[in-house]
Amino acid sequence: MSSSPDITKTFIQGIPKAELHIHIEGSLEPELMFEIAERNGVSLPYSSVEEARRAYNFSDLQSFLDIYYQSMQVLLHEQDFYDLTRAYLQRVSSQNVRHVEIFFDPQAHTDRGVPFETVITGIHRALEDGERQLSVSSKLIMCFLRHLSAESAMETLRSSLPFREWIVGVGLDSSEVGHPPEDFKAVFDEAREHGFLTVAHAGEEGSPEYIWQALDDLKVSRIDHGVRCVEDPKLVERLREERIPLTVCPLSNVKLRVFGSIEDHNLKQMLDLGLCATMNSDDPAYFGGYMDENFHATQEGLHLTRGDIHRLVKNSFQASFLDAERKQLLSDELDEYFASHA
Ligand code: HPA
Ligand code: ZN
Repeated sequence: MSSSPDITKTFIQGIPKAELHIHIEGSLEPELMFEIAERNGVSLPYSSVEEARRAYNFSDLQSFLDIYYQSMQVLLHEQDFYDLTRAYLQRVSSQNVRHVEIFFDPQAHTDRGVPFETVITGIHRALEDGERQLSVSSKLIMCFLRHLSAESAMETLRSSLPFREWIVGVGLDSSEVGHPPEDFKAVFDEAREHGFLTVAHAGEEGSPEYIWQALDDLKVSRIDHGVRCVEDPKLVERLREERIPLTVCPLSNVKLRVFGSIEDHNLKQMLDLGLCATMNSDDPAYFGGYMDENFHATQEGLHLTRGDIHRLVKNSFQASFLDAERKQLLSDELDEYFASHA
């Protein structure tokens, strides 16, 4: 299937965009993983970059998470987290991504003995440099690992408080099924008392009930993934009425077999239902691409129109945690791009 003649890779590349669903640890490319492993004296279960890439063949979310947590064990020092974040920002700035909201998984590091401060200082320093040197604005979202206890999440929340001003919100990720949002209600209540915004992964593999819980118990501003919402018409109505954004990640969903192929993905259906869907990469080093690769594959697979693409990007600026002024500036830039490429 070829792309529409007017939606070329160059056209997609030039669109000013935002990414709202990216796990920074999921942007660790095998090349950088080997480089950091070598300087830290950490041994890897792969003999080469190619062998690592060959292992990135997943049957579901858990089969990915096992490799994801294993690979990030090379990250030990502040500079490692800086280099990881810097590489992601460089990559997306070449795709004209103008704003990013980045997840990080502190427990995946503190549980290995890497201090919270080491992790966040490296990431934060790279985000500041990225803003100054690459003109990519950013926000940081701290995720709790839902396969761990609510007590561990609470402890993590408390250890983040000295860095409160560097973090815009909290999220919930890792193994979804069997770990419902309601288990984390008290942690999210306390997070909101400290002024954090809230988001949660829900309805990726889990049922629509998990999306209801994320809305009602965790009071989230956005749902991460949320693709299973279409199974519940009342939920679709609620999401549409309240304009709750959904951060959709098409290549991730295909790699983790939420959908059999990109042609089967329901992103176009979500747009047609009037939902505030956005395009994102999730874990780009593992799922076959960054923002542009997601736009390109989805455009081809679902025959997205220019109007659909314009809508998706506009949704992500509106759904971001930016202030009204920068939202408007980026949105105007987007409209001008589409007008001047008519
Ligand atoms: N889902 C849940 N947890 C995650 C993911 C995901 O796609 N990526 C990294 N952690
Ligand atoms: Zn995710």
